[in-house]
Amino acid sequence: MTVSTLCPVSSFYVTTPIYYVNDVPHIGHAYPTVNADALARWHRLMGDDVFFLTGTDEHGEKVARAAIEHGVTPQEWVDRVAPRFVEAWHGLDISNDDFIRTSERRHHRAVQKFLQRIHDNGWIELGTYAGWYCVGCEAYKDESELLEGRICPDHLRPVEWLEEENYFFKLSAFGDRLEKWYAEHPDAIAPEGKRNEALGFIRGGLQDISITRTSISWGVPVPWDDRHVFYVWYDALINYLTGIGYGDETDAGQARYEKFWPVVHHLLGKDIIRFHCVWWPAMCMAADVEPPRHFLVHGWLLVGGSRLSKTRIKELDNDDSGIRLSDITPKSLTDDFGVDAVRYHLLRDTPLGADGDFSYEGITIRYNADLANNLGNLLARVATVVGSKCGGIGPAPDPRSRLCATSESVVQETVAAWGRAQPYAALESTWLLIRETNAELESQEPWKSDPGPQVDAVLGSALEALRIVALLVTPAMPATAAEIWRRIGLPGAPSDCRLPDDAAWGGYPGGVPVEKGPPLFPRRHD
Ligand code: MSP
Repeated sequence: MTVSTLCPVSSFYVTTPIYYVNDVPHIGHAYPTVNADALARWHRLMGDDVFFLTGTDEHGEKVARAAIEHGVTPQEWVDRVAPRFVEAWHGLDISNDDFIRTSERRHHRAVQKFLQRIHDNGWIELGTYAGWYCVGCEAYKDESELLEGRICPDHLRPVEWLEEENYFFKLSAFGDRLEKWYAEHPDAIAPEGKRNEALGFIRGGLQDISITRTSISWGVPVPWDDRHVFYVWYDALINYLTGIGYGDETDAGQARYEKFWPVVHHLLGKDIIRFHCVWWPAMCMAADVEPPRHFLVHGWLLVGGSRLSKTRIKELDNDDSGIRLSDITPKSLTDDFGVDAVRYHLLRDTPLGADGDFSYEGITIRYNADLANNLGNLLARVATVVGSKCGGIGPAPDPRSRLCATSESVVQETVAAWGRAQPYAALESTWLLIRETNAELESQEPWKSDPGPQVDAVLGSALEALRIVALLVTPAMPATAAEIWRRIGLPGAPSDCRLPDDAAWGGYPGGVPVEKGPPLFPRRHD
């Protein structure tokens, strides 16, 4: 993705995939959600009009079967399990503007409107489908994709033979149009390698896809044929439109849709590129809706080389390795490390686009190095010395401080990195200011000097650096940023500020009380 495409814009719409409601929320789900949240928070700080959507994918065979197993209706089942995700995101301080559930009436209305349009435009026809189906993936599988014994390679479970009358979407007619669209929008998919993968799917030839089912009734009914419901993936993708008002005929719904579509940023895992980057834009073209403008494809968090899918968790739980991956829920981590430390680790250690290895050692090392020894230590030592040398009142910064130039370049780089949707790079750059401020204190040693203008200048500049750091870390660690802000005596909250202007050197007023407080990030010894 080039810088220009993600420069501050007046509106910023960001989405996560909607999660299968049957899964227990785990850190693999938290990873894209925290990234989307940080991007949304960053754009709010930049003054953009932001809409951040996440939610749950509630239809399909898997859910219908789980409901039967539990002796309840599918609706009762999803009403019972969907709140797990709401709670998980609440526990991670996720600031989504809406939470979409595909069993909601508003979504049914949008799906029916969208697909009726595709039907009216002549892109849907009736046929018979026969093939191997993986309930785990909720997708038909080509024999060539399967492991020996007709096992799904992702779920390591046998696929099932399904044969039924289905409506088909004529995806095969969209190859040239998709190629042309991607040529006109070269920055649509980031990173570059994933764009090539999507183009590879398109150039490899597209087949029509079956988009309805008669074998189950848990789904959105097909408006022109009530024997059928739409196939779960077909309904799920449309959530991105429902969430901003498509299908809502009120003025407010229309206005929101027009404001936020099509300049959306869809975050998605590398396993669902084909659905998002091939099916979805073609579906939009067929429904006379402009295709979504940006896809940010991320890798997987792996534990011991395995992805944390629910099925894999179960298997690994039962093996002898001693790893209990099912314990790696966001809550188990935040209870242990704190919310902001988990958010920081997810953003800082696995760049969007790459796979990342999750381990307790990894998160602990990062926690001690960046949070306890650098950020936490900086705040503690500044507050302590302000207490002993300045009577607890923070002095004003020095306009000639060496840190002024460092801060200017750090702000510039941090802004650019968030603009490129690279939180890890933005945080790396912000930490340079933290390290340089610690280094400045170590070289000036204000704790050894008598109180006076020189000590004031050093401490005032360190407080100003902390103010700027608080602003820059707000998207990643909102509660920590607000706490630093409060302790250095500033009114309001960093999230009320606007960047980059409010990050200009000299904003710390001086003459305000500074509070030491307990360590922000106590050092861990595990
Ligand atoms: N319901 C579909 C998405 C429909 S979007 C219109 C789905 N759900 S999912 O719950 O299985 O996965 C949702 C997202 O979580 C995917 O992007 C997937 O890549 C991501 N992750 C699941 N496990 C993950 C990791 N271990 N690491 C990183 N992301 C992972 O697919």
